[in-house]
Amino acid sequence: MELKAENISFSYHKKKPILNDVSLSLNSNQIIGLIGDSGSGKSTLCKVISGYISNYTGEVTIDGNSVNRNGYDPIQLIFQHPEKTMNPKWKMEKVLRESWIPPQDLKDTFGLKDNWLTRWPNELSGGELQRFSILRSLNPKTKFIIADEISTMLDAVTQVQIWEALINHCKANNIGILAVSHDKDLLEVICDDILYFNEINHI
Ligand SMILES: Nc1ncnc2c1ncn2[C@@H]1O[C@H](COP(=O)(O)OP(=O)(O)OP(=O)(O)O)[C@@H](O)[C@H]1O
Ligand SMILES: [Mg+2]
Repeated sequence: MELKAENISFSYHKKKPILNDVSLSLNSNQIIGLIGDSGSGKSTLCKVISGYISNYTGEVTIDGNSVNRNGYDPIQLIFQHPEKTMNPKWKMEKVLRESWIPPQDLKDTFGLKDNWLTRWPNELSGGELQRFSILRSLNPKTKFIIADEISTMLDAVTQVQIWEALINHCKANNIGILAVSHDKDLLEVICDDILYFNEINHI
């Protein structure tokens, strides 16, 4: 499968365009990195691609078809701050179950402990929460993952563990990944290709 974002333009305020004529493509068997200055619009582009922003111009397609945003979205965004995407009044079991019920071996791969499931989001660390949000995004209907600085808050060892688990799962299930990060060393290790945001955004 091929995910394409073509000629995407968007601004939050009329006077200040954030995205101008941005295009990129990503195949299911690829990991593409995206690197660029802070505040330049990478997260905004991630939100456009994964359906959180709709009033843009241009097209987001999978194999030439526009993406159906009703129901489960095949393009899943994993945010940098997992706590912002979880209902604080839901226990972790419900947070996870809202998407799907992952098999035990996958929970083990991501180091998810069973006793975390009965806790509230504010009773887990950032790294523990991020394991949930990654696992939550891996519903079998997912075709592409947009990983927006998902490991910035993790220590080096945990970062490697989580990326390894995510990459192994995506390779085995033919899920493409767009990996946004300021960490060029990380992108050079995990990606097939790296895009420079200021080269694809024509501001
Ligand atoms: N909801 C919003 N309303 C108005 N402006 C916004 C909104 N979200 C982001 N912006 C602005 O849009 C610009 C791009 O933000 P964005 O979060 O996409 O940058 P980024 O490249 O992801 O930065 P970082 O590397 O720091 O995560 C910034 O100037 C930001 O202040
Ligand atoms: Mg960002």
